[in-house]
Formats: sequence, C-alpha cells, structure tokens
Amino acid sequence: MDILLTGRWADDDECEVWRAALQAALPGARWTVDRGEAVPAWPRTIEAAVVANPPPGRLQGLPRLRLIQSLWAGVDRLLADQTLPVDVPIARMVDPAMNAAMAETALWAVLMLQRGFHHYAAQQRAGLWRQRPQRRADEVAVTVLGCGQMGAAAARRLAAQGFRVRGWRATPGRPPEGFEGIEVHAGPAALPALLADSDIVVNLLPLTPATRGLIDARFLAALPPGAALVNLARGAHGVEADLLAALDAGRLDHAVLDVFTQEPLPAGHPFWRHPRVTLLPHVAALTDARSAAAVVAANLQALAEGRPIAHRVDRARGY
Ligand code: NAP
Ligand code: GLV
Repeated sequence: MDILLTGRWADDDECEVWRAALQAALPGARWTVDRGEAVPAWPRTIEAAVVANPPPGRLQGLPRLRLIQSLWAGVDRLLADQTLPVDVPIARMVDPAMNAAMAETALWAVLMLQRGFHHYAAQQRAGLWRQRPQRRADEVAVTVLGCGQMGAAAARRLAAQGFRVRGWRATPGRPPEGFEGIEVHAGPAALPALLADSDIVVNLLPLTPATRGLIDARFLAALPPGAALVNLARGAHGVEADLLAALDAGRLDHAVLDVFTQEPLPAGHPFWRHPRVTLLPHVAALTDARSAAAVVAANLQALAEGRPIAHRVDRARGY
C-alpha cells in the first residue's frame, strides 16, 4: 500500500522518528514523506495518509485516498482544513499509553491542588514557612468534563485516589465505558449544578463548535469561590480574558493550563507570570511513536483487509 506521511513537525528529527517507527511497524508499505515541498505532487496511488495536523491543502489531489489517520488524539485543527476530502474517513489516535499519560497529568494536577502544593511552591519562593489546612481526597469534588478516552482514564485514576469524581458528557444514558461506579451527568442543563458543587474542574472535552468558549465568565461564575481549573484539552475551550479576570479577582484560586489558544504561548502573555497559574507547554499526553505506530499499523492493516476502521471521527459532531 502507498502511504503519505505529512504534518507540521517541531523539526526534521520529529518527522524522522515517526517515519522510522511507522516503517518498522509496516515494513511492506511504500511511504512518501512530505518534507514541506512548495508544490506537493504526491503519487496518485496513495491510499492512506498518516497526518500530524498538516498545513491546509496537503491532502488534495489523491484520487485513491481511502483513510486519513491522525497521529494526534484531537482532530479540531485537522477538521478546520476546508480542503480536506469530504468522503474519506478520518481516524484519530487512540492509544492506551496516551490515556495513561493523561491520567498521570490529571492526577498530579488534582493532588497538587487538593494538598495546596502550589501554595507551598510560592511560599518557598517567598521564603515563607506556613502550614495550611490539609484536605482529604474524599472532601474534594472533581468534575471531569468529557468522558471519552482521556476523561475516562483520568476519572478512573482520580476515583481510585479517593476523590469524589463526577463526569460530564454530551449524551444522556448509560455511563460510558470506564465510568462504572462513577457518577455521570449529561448535557448543558446539568452543568450549572455540577459546577456549583465542584472544587476542581478537569477539562478533557474535544474542541468542537459546541465546546469552543465553554469556559467563559458564566461558567467560571457558577463555580464556588476558591475552586480551581485544570485545562488539559484545548485552549479555545476557555475565554482567556474571562479566565484572567476570575484569576485576578481570586475567585478562581488556581488554574493548571497545558493548552492555549495560541501555541507556543506568546512571550509576555499574562499567563506566563500569573501567580495563580501553573503552566505546561502542551505536554499532558504526548503521542509516543513507540506505541502509536502499532495503533496506526493496526488501522492500516484493517484498511488493507477491508475490515472496519477503528476510532473513526464523526465529522458532524467534530470528534
Ligand atoms: P474523546 O474520546 O473524543 O472525548 C469525547 C467525550 O467528550 C465524550 O464523553 C463526549 O460525550 C464528550 N463531549 C463531546 N462534546 C461534548 C459536549 N458538547 N458536551 C459535553 N460533553 C461532550 O476525546 P479524548 O481523546 O478523550 O480527548 C479529550 C481532549 O484531550 C481533546 O480535546 C484532545 O484534543 C485533548 N488532548 C490533549 C492532549 C494534551 O497533551 N494536552 C493530548 C491528547 C488529547 P459523549 O460520551 O456523550 O459522546
Ligand atoms: C494532543 O493534544 C493531541 O491531540 O494528541
């Protein structure tokens, strides 16, 4: 099978890591690697594209294309490409290793907020010796927005740690897989009451027209004073000005932010030095070529053998 590898890479090394891992996982395939040619002219025999948010237009002129396999879990940026062939299925990255990494980040952030370790870090910088009240995990209500791959992994990990965990999703009905024993709420109507009873909100929603800008002034005002936000999903879920206003006023005690509307976060952005912000450079769960190459290989094998493709994106829903 002829396969195109294309994306926006941090550097040539990142592209090479993926090429080598994918080639090793699918030794029989013929790979074309997009090296940023000014005028792409791919072999017309290409049947699958393995993509890492390529610049718009890179998937045009491929008459035999039958699958677009994303290397990233979130497909918001990929779907924003207006030139994407409309009738070709898109599969997103679902890798248990990535879910585990996300659960670790969520657990680290929630533990830090529960026990006030962020306050102690600030106290150290100020040379201040002061013990603060200690909260038990079961005294802390954590709402996980999104009960998908990442949300389920994070919720399970947090529940196992003893936190009072609740999930929030779009569709009412039976709890999604992985949420057995965890309270799940659904739909916009359920959100205000859930937020009012949340000490910590962990955002793990996909970015879609329905979720863009969800974390705005109204959302933040629904939280009890002193609550905290952990955003590990996409920056555009939040309205940055509203978030800054809530942090400046101290209504929101702290925000752990891994994702931003503009990445890298511009120098001089108020988040960089905000005393109520703990900032990460979009590393909550990196796709790891060592495990993800096998995920890609399994889907391409399914394509070759005419079996169903796993983890297809519903373009109408945007996730
Ligand atoms: P996913 O499996 O597609 O998550 C879908 C979940 O979100 C489902 O439970 C769905 O509800 C819920 N949902 C979707 N729209 C909703 C809405 N309007 N209202 C309420 N719930 C809604 O996504 P994932 O793989 O877990 O990824 C989660 C997020 O993490 C994405 O934004 C992704 O881009 C991001 N991510 C970040 C990093 C990082 O390093 N920071 C790494 C990987 C992924 P239903 O169950 O009802 O369908
Ligand atoms: C990372 O943010 C991803 O979507 O994989």
